[in-house]
Amino acid sequence: MSIEFRDLRRQYNKIKDAIDNQITAVIRSSHFINGPEVKELEKVLADFTGRKHCITCANGTDAISIALMAAGIGEAGGGSKTDAVFVPDFTFFSSGECPATVGATPIFVDVDRYTYNIDVVSLERAIQTVKSEGKLKPCAVVAVDLFGRPFDYDAVFEVCERYNLLLLEDAAQGFGGTYTTAFGEKLMAGKLGTISTTSFFPAKPLGCYGDGGAIFTDDDLLDTLCRSIAVHGKDMEHPDDPNAKYNNIRLGMNSRLDTLQAGILLAKFPMFRDQELAAVNHVAVKYTELLSDIEGLTLPTVEDNESQYYSSWAQYTIQLPEGVNRADVQKKLKESGIPTNIYYIKPMCKQGAFINTQSSIADCPVTEMLCERVLCLPIHPYLEDDEVEFIVEKMKAVLI
Ligand SMILES: Cc1ncc(COP(=O)(O)O)c(C=O)c1O
Repeated sequence: MSIEFRDLRRQYNKIKDAIDNQITAVIRSSHFINGPEVKELEKVLADFTGRKHCITCANGTDAISIALMAAGIGEAGGGSKTDAVFVPDFTFFSSGECPATVGATPIFVDVDRYTYNIDVVSLERAIQTVKSEGKLKPCAVVAVDLFGRPFDYDAVFEVCERYNLLLLEDAAQGFGGTYTTAFGEKLMAGKLGTISTTSFFPAKPLGCYGDGGAIFTDDDLLDTLCRSIAVHGKDMEHPDDPNAKYNNIRLGMNSRLDTLQAGILLAKFPMFRDQELAAVNHVAVKYTELLSDIEGLTLPTVEDNESQYYSSWAQYTIQLPEGVNRADVQKKLKESGIPTNIYYIKPMCKQGAFINTQSSIADCPVTEMLCERVLCLPIHPYLEDDEVEFIVEKMKAVLI
């Protein structure tokens, strides 16, 4: 049996005609930049997430940087190096890289050992420490929907309100998931921050065929600023001025989603919404059911569409029992044709880029433990029940 970690070919085969037609239509129109598909996609995704604005851009990393700059954070956003941005220590590098590249200071905080998402107790402790030291100014929280599961919105929102911090949701992995608030309001990932971002990297829950990203907000000013920053700081405030296109009123970047990628996402979206989210949840339920026979494993919590959290399962991540040789488990699974990955091998605060900076100072024991023990198993909407059974059987052979 040959199993892909994330099988994009199976997905393509299901909707080949729709994708091929979109690609051909864009090539025939030769409208490669800012073609009508880009606007159409922005409308579709804004409606899906329940947001007023969706601004597409070149990738999920740019999306975070643009969002921070639009919010006035860091030197590039008109703020200062002393702007502190609180980021989980256990995440993909971009979540912490972007606050640093826009000229702010990321401060890493610990995560919850079961949800993998930002731990509010650790967050509040870090905010208090920054405040009492008096060198940095608490400005924002980057809350990540790690592995597809939305973060604890009610708790993080409350902390952000109390300390007057911007809540930026990094929904690169969580797009398609939902969170139901304490007031019973069901919010899509992409709606949980004052400003939210996502990635359309091919292996993401909704992926294109190259790089792509988007920013979501309900705030008109943030929308205008993001659109300006994404196109070299172009004047967006005067849409009727014919000279506005070449009037660059701030420093920005060149970060557009090209028309081909927008067309591909339009072709993929209906299947993502109507079938893939349910299918990938089915795979997660099946894994958790079968893996619970193996003693000592820590399995991710699986909840359904009616629960407080609904994940889009970018990853299915387990924790191996203490003392198990993870490299050996990976090697044996690989011999059976089962690919695995480790997300993430290193705490953010220990990444080489942050050595000798304020960002390297963090107290995150849960992240340290997770980096030693996590293992990500193949997951995607097209993984068949018999493939999950095969993977679990091989896991049992290795671990029991
Ligand atoms: C949590 C998180 N944030 C941001 C990104 C960045 O997205 P991109 O690769 O599109 O720049 C990723 C991509 O892996 C991610 O997983």
